[in-house]
Order: sequence, then C-alpha cells, then structure tokens
Amino acid sequence: MRGRLLILMITVSFLAVFSSCTTRVVTLSPPSDNYNIKLYTIDGNLTLDILSPDDSLIMSVDHLGLMIDSIDFSQGWKLKHYSKTRVNRRWTQPWGENKKMEECYNGMTLDLVHTDGIQMALEIRAFDDGLGFRYRYTLPHAPQHLLQGETTQFVFPREATAWSIPANFESYEFAYRELPLSQTTDANTPFTIRMSDSLYVSIHEASLLHMPEMTLVQRDSLRFGVWLAPSADSTVGFATPIVGTDTITTSFRTITLGRQAIDLINSSLILNLNEPCVIDDVSWIRPMKYIGIWWGMHLGINSWTPDARHGATTTNALRYVDFAAQHHIDAVLIEGWNTGWEQWGGSQQFSFTESAPDMDIDSVIRYAHQRGVEIIIHHETGGNISHYEKQMEKAYQWCQERHIHTLKTGYAGGFPNREIHHSLYGVQHYTHVMQKTATHQLMLDVHEPIKPTGLRRTYPNLMTAEGARGMEWNAWSDGNPPSHQCILPFTRLLAGPMDYTPGIFDLTYQRIQHNPNLRQWNQKDARECRVPSTIAHQVALWTVIYSPLIMASDLIENYEGNPMFQFFEDYNPDIDWSSALQGEIGQYVVIARRSGSTYYVGAITNEEPRNISLPLSFLPANHTFKATIYADGLNAHYLNNPTDYSITHQYVVHNDTLSIQLAPGGGCAIEIKE
Ligand code: NOJ
Ligand code: CA
Repeated sequence: MRGRLLILMITVSFLAVFSSCTTRVVTLSPPSDNYNIKLYTIDGNLTLDILSPDDSLIMSVDHLGLMIDSIDFSQGWKLKHYSKTRVNRRWTQPWGENKKMEECYNGMTLDLVHTDGIQMALEIRAFDDGLGFRYRYTLPHAPQHLLQGETTQFVFPREATAWSIPANFESYEFAYRELPLSQTTDANTPFTIRMSDSLYVSIHEASLLHMPEMTLVQRDSLRFGVWLAPSADSTVGFATPIVGTDTITTSFRTITLGRQAIDLINSSLILNLNEPCVIDDVSWIRPMKYIGIWWGMHLGINSWTPDARHGATTTNALRYVDFAAQHHIDAVLIEGWNTGWEQWGGSQQFSFTESAPDMDIDSVIRYAHQRGVEIIIHHETGGNISHYEKQMEKAYQWCQERHIHTLKTGYAGGFPNREIHHSLYGVQHYTHVMQKTATHQLMLDVHEPIKPTGLRRTYPNLMTAEGARGMEWNAWSDGNPPSHQCILPFTRLLAGPMDYTPGIFDLTYQRIQHNPNLRQWNQKDARECRVPSTIAHQVALWTVIYSPLIMASDLIENYEGNPMFQFFEDYNPDIDWSSALQGEIGQYVVIARRSGSTYYVGAITNEEPRNISLPLSFLPANHTFKATIYADGLNAHYLNNPTDYSITHQYVVHNDTLSIQLAPGGGCAIEIKE
C-alpha cells in the first residue's frame, strides 16, 4: 500500500510583528500558479481571497474561525508566525477511479494567538485543482468544551448558478435544485457552482473525523455561512459538547476549482486531503460486481420479514448464487436474511447473528463459496445505534468466522435519544464502524451514511456509500428524473463512490403488474412508478457512477437472455484509471475508465436527446481495439420507448472519433477491448 514517496519540504519561517489594528497579507499559490491565495489579517479578522492570475476575484472566505465556549473566534487574532511547505508525493491506492495518485501542493501554516491567549493554527494547502484549509484550536484545560458553531463564510463576487440539496442533518436523499446562487437558501455539500463558462467551483469538506458535518446557509445573497449539525443535547443550545480533549481540529474545508465542469470530476483534492492508508494488509480488499435479493422488496413483491412474501429464503438465495456463478458476478447481497425486521420502523430489535427461519445462511454461504461467489451480509440498524454497537463485535466476528468480507450497513430510521445522523455523535459512530470492520477484514457499503470526505484513502475498506437519492426512489416515489444522474457526477460523486444500485432493465415494471404479492409499502404503489431512463442509460451508469462495489440491481429474471446484460458480465470493476471527457452539469456527461488494457466509456444525457462526437485519443496509439457499443435504438425515448437498444461492434484506434446518438433520457456504454 505504501507508494513511492517523493517529498520535498521547504520551510520558511517568519516572525511577524506582534500588533493588532494592522493589515497583514501573506500569499500562497499552488504549484502551477493557476490561482493565488491572499490571506489578510485586518484588525484581527481573517479573510482569504482566491484570485485568478489576472488578479480578478474568484471568491473569498472570511470570518475564518469557530465559536467555542462562548468566544467568537471570528475576530481578535494576531499572526505570530507562519511557515510554508512544498509537498510532491506519489501514492497508490488498492482501488479507486485512479490507482496512481499525485499529491502536489504548496502549504502554509499560520500560528495565531487570540486576544484572550488561545492559540490557533490555520493550515492551508493549495493544489492546482483547489484548496483546503482547517483550524486547530488549543484550548485551556477543561472537562468539556462547547463547540457552538463556525463563523467561516464563503462569499462569491457575482451571481452564478448553483446545484444543491437542502442542508438537512438527517438525510441526503433529496432531488437536486438548480438555482441562482442568490436564491439558494441553504445547501449540503458538495455544493457546486457554475460561475462562468470557464469557472466552476465546488465546496465540500475532507477528512471528517472529529467534527459534526458542515452545511451551508445563506447569510446574504451571495454569502454562505457554515452551519454545523448540532448534538441532541438541548440543554447546550445548538452546540456540540467536546469531551476528553482540549484540542479541536476541524476537517478541511475544501474549494475545488475547474475551468470546465468535468475538471471537478477529475480532481483528486478530497482524497489528497486525507491521511495515508493505515491498514497494513489490504489483500482482502477488492472491487466486486454484485447482484442481490433487494429490488423485489423495493417494488413491494417481496418482504424483508419472513412471511409468505419473504425474499431472503434459502431457495431464492441459492438461485441468486447460481446466477452469479454463471454470469461472472463476484457477489450476492442478501437483505432480510436475519431476524428482527418485524420491528423495523419501531423499536428496532435486529439480530445480526440469527437468521430468519426460512433462511439457512450457513448453507448458503458454504454453497456460494464452493461456487466462487461472495455473500454480502446486510446490517440494517434502523438507526438504533446503541442496539447495534452492543452487537457489533459479535456480529463482525460472526462474519469473519464465515469468511465474509463484505458488509452493507443501513441507518433507515431515527437515532436513539433524538441524536442526529450527521452530528458528531453520528460521525463518531460511522468512524467507529469503519475502523472496527477494518480489523475484522470487512469491506463496507454504507447506506444512509455520513457523506464521504475521502476517508477511503486512510481506510480503503470503506468502499462505497449511498448518501443521495439512489435507484430505490424509482420503485416507490415520483422517482429521479434523467437529469438527476447528470447532476450527481458534478455534486455528490465529487465526495466519493456511490452505491446508486443502477441497472434496472424492466423499466416500466411489466413483470410485476399482475403479481398477487405486490403491496404498496412506501410513498407510492410500484405500478404507478417507473425508472425514467432508457435501458442504454442504465447500462452506461455502471461506468458513469463509480463504485468499487457495483450492483446490477434488477431481479435476475429481467437479465436472463437480455444481450444488454453482456456489458455487466464482461465489466471488470477493478478500475485503475478514469477520465471525465465531456459534460455540463445536469445536461450530460461522458466518462472513460480503464481496467488493465480494457477501456469502458459511459455517456448519459438528461431529458434532451444529444449527439456526441467522441475522440478516442485516450486510447494508446499503435494498438487496435474492438469496441462493443451498447446504444439507444433509433426510436428510443425514456418516456415511451425505453427498451429500444442497439449493440454494434467495430474496430477502433487512437485517432478515431466515434459519433454517439443519445435518445431523450438515454445513454451509451462502450467496452473497448484490445
Ligand atoms: C434503505 C437502503 O438504501 C436500501 O438499500 C435498503 O434496501 C433498505 N434501506 C432496507 O435496509
Ligand atoms: Ca436509502
């Protein structure tokens, strides 16, 4: 795991004149000087301007600081000293959009002292693709400190267009809003803004370990303050008690910058602002394709509870294992295998070691392993963290004894004692699970997670997460419009991989229309719902939405005999290189990935049809490849003809340009094999 290290450190120290009521300016630029940072201390306030090389203002961050123990740290600072660092490091990861990584930045740490003697270090790292900064406060010793908020404000110089979901502390599963920045009242991060034809910005955070999550709230038309998820302890106001330490280190507040929208996707800022891997042996961590006993429950034809409609029966699980073995699929997820589902949504009494009466989990695991298939165990906690934490050790041991290496967790339900999902309490729980599963050699797929912040670099067993509206919403609600999948790569996916669970082929639910078992269990009856996309769009999502655990989510009977499934069968999820090639937020996106010597391209569009001219210049020269193109049929349309497709083959070389026609709500997937 340890990559080749090439670190060049230059440290410049400077003892500043100790005075307030002055303006001091220190500057920092990234390695290629494509923007500049000016950090001002003006009468004790800290302001950071980000400027283009021509000195025009990209944006500012001001009132830098936190509110702790009733002290407003947005003012009263004196700069004591600062030092600069240059880092140029190469590192590799066991899996990722790109396995070979470069971490090149110019850094600066400012040591500041507050009027009442408290010290703060402000650390800034300037990469070519954006910057991160974080605070480290050293407080006087006390049994408890109260983190009452953050004063930091992000300020934009002019009106722009922003894509956001609401700053909700319990969920990320919302439809995106495309709004003028001045009409965006609040946002969760990644918060993405198109400032001009040649300037795109996204605000997020990296390495979220010891803080509640950061959201943004509009203070004034183009000014956004930080709003931290509070603890449930109402006696301390909307604050978070910090116990057992006198040092508060925030996560990095990050600003990704791009000249094109796709630059945001190609950025590795978030990963680079995390610590190196701490797991010595990563041989058990590997990308996988999976299917699962899952969609039937969302459609309402199966149940998680062991009644007549139970999905996770021994017989059904063996059927899924056989299908996986026959179609080169690595793993099978089984939801509803355990006891306690009757109380889901109520008192939450799940057992994570007892299987349902009609599920012989040990036989299923044994049979799967004989056939070379992994089983993905499922832990729905219903949000009852205390109940889960009591069983965790035993449950993870149970998995390890059975050579289970993959766990899907879920937090669909409120936390105990009115604790908040995205609070410090939540962050600490998700961190605890990530660390503990690592010691039991378990890879994680977290649903209802805390948003990804690049921790997968440090803990590469944290494979994937939900944390946005996924496919499930198409089974029981108004669904995700085609534009949703064209927004995700530029927003949520900047944070990290997503288990979107793509690949529904029965887009209008023909198979279940007359199924006597069908029950409405959520917002809508599945018969009133559908997946608003073409089948080629679904196939393209396997490439577009990166996830090292990637699901083909439909009922297996909907794949049997469908030639479009060949793409998934042949797909190698062990990607080593990726590049977003074209795209505009909410309109379309084209992404290429490579595994070994095979390339994959995924292109999707929103409700509009589109012709794309795709130069294949990403292929190595002097090689001939066979391209298999899974495209929309001539008459495809996501509303009235979603299953019209065409599969064609052609030989291609580096100099070729492919012309791709995308239907409304359509897509295209291409496998390019040497
Ligand atoms: C919500 C998750 O997102 C989904 O994948 C899962 O099937 C249900 N909760 C039940 O755990
Ligand atoms: Ca969910």
